Amino acid sequence: MPSRAEAAASRLFSPIRIGALTLEQRSWVPAMVPWRATEDGFVTDEVVEWYGRFARGRPGAIVVEATGIRDVPSGPLLRIGHDRFLPGLRRLVDAVRRESGGHTRLFIQIIDFLAIRRRPEPKKFFERFLAITDRHRAALGESDEARLRARLAALPEAELDNVLTPDELEALRFGQRERVTDMQHAHIRALPAVLPGLFADAALRSRAAGFDGVELHYAHAYTMASFLSATNTREDGYGGARENRVRLPLEVYRAVRERVGADYAVGCRFLAEECVAGGSELEDAVYFGVAFARAGMDFLSTSRGGKFDDAKQPGIGGVSYPYTGPSGYECMPQYISDERGPFGRNVEPTAAIRGAVRAVGLATPVVCTGGIHNFATAERLLEEGACDIIGAARQSLADPDWLRKTALGLGETVRLCEYTNYCEGLDQKHKPVTCQLWDREKLDEAGITRSADGKRRMVAPDWESPEDA
Ligand SMILES: Cc1cc2nc3c(=O)[nH]c(=O)nc-3n(C[C@H](O)[C@H](O)[C@H](O)COP(=O)(O)O)c2cc1C
Ligand code: SF4
Repeated sequence: MPSRAEAAASRLFSPIRIGALTLEQRSWVPAMVPWRATEDGFVTDEVVEWYGRFARGRPGAIVVEATGIRDVPSGPLLRIGHDRFLPGLRRLVDAVRRESGGHTRLFIQIIDFLAIRRRPEPKKFFERFLAITDRHRAALGESDEARLRARLAALPEAELDNVLTPDELEALRFGQRERVTDMQHAHIRALPAVLPGLFADAALRSRAAGFDGVELHYAHAYTMASFLSATNTREDGYGGARENRVRLPLEVYRAVRERVGADYAVGCRFLAEECVAGGSELEDAVYFGVAFARAGMDFLSTSRGGKFDDAKQPGIGGVSYPYTGPSGYECMPQYISDERGPFGRNVEPTAAIRGAVRAVGLATPVVCTGGIHNFATAERLLEEGACDIIGAARQSLADPDWLRKTALGLGETVRLCEYTNYCEGLDQKHKPVTCQLWDREKLDEAGITRSADGKRRMVAPDWESPEDA
């Protein structure tokens, strides 16, 4: 644990430029969806309270959760696809400014995602959802549709493998999921025409709401990451070779830049490794990182894994969740682990990306996230040049004041994340996210917000800094 003087002289607590902005310190709270928005995507008091609590810890930057760029229903996820969302987002920005005393810069992560359906009941799938084709008719030698559906429903699992296509099997066993390669659908073919404008409009709204910058979500299981993925085989110039896979992400960036101007901070989050069979590897990510930096992005933030490709089968009526398989583990590693443990699994790949960006003469700051939870590791990574900014998601959730405590030489009082993934389990169930280290503490405290069942507090208990006393 550093003394106050050591912390003051450290790299972690030194400023850094991101485009035209300055972060007071090299700490970063990456995007985390806390499931607190309204069903139609508006900011609630609970959203404001959540970000206000992180802001009281005064990190260098906070990135607001993945926020949808389209004006379509998407459940209780924040949205920025229309001007009607602006008043709520402004309230959120004001709260972070106020609660951090102006010390924290605020970004918003903007996202596009494709449709995914719940895993159907097999009976309903065969009765209603499955579109009957000649393949099914031929396989069972049955032309009457009602009888054919009934016979398909009665087939043993192993025989279904021969009768249904891979897409149909996935729709039955996991729930139907759209892919960027579904070129039979006009709206999927049109993604390259539509997305630059949608991202640009959302980025302009971010600026209007008062955010210091935007993070384009090019990571995990969502549309832009799917364009970057080695599994993207589109044949319209936006898939296949790396330079084609990066084309739309660059077009989106340029549209955003044109709309928000040169002085607004724009960067992206992307995967250092996809961690799935047939997915992009580090070499691809190095190529993408250099391309993004060359295009003029103000920062690069890395993550890893988090894909649908290897997600566990959901229960009937459930939705596939991209953090349940091996790639999901790489994204949010927990304490039940291999010999490497949950710590710093993204460090080496991030260092390789940063090294390649530096090798072409660019100084674009790089944020590394994943299992970083203490001063010593953070300082070492900065010193070794693995990254320029330290991302800490779960550690900041476990103790939003961990950086302030550390800066004051009070590192021993930090509540350390135990990487149990209790928080991630709540996320998976789309329940309001809290941390098990504090959510049952001082439940009778006056004025606190509790979960609907009254059993959990919604934000970490306050910590009184000796500076404030
Ligand atoms: C509850 C929860 C929600 C998350 N939501 C997002 C998100 O909206 N966007 C994103 O890029 N990553 C998201 N993540 C991933 C984190 O930003 C981070 O990459 C991951 O937790 C690993 O970092 P850590 O070890 O510091 O927690 C989420 C993580 C958690 C635990
Ligand atoms: S719930 Fe567990 S993994 Fe999540 S922040 Fe708290 S201690 Fe860390």
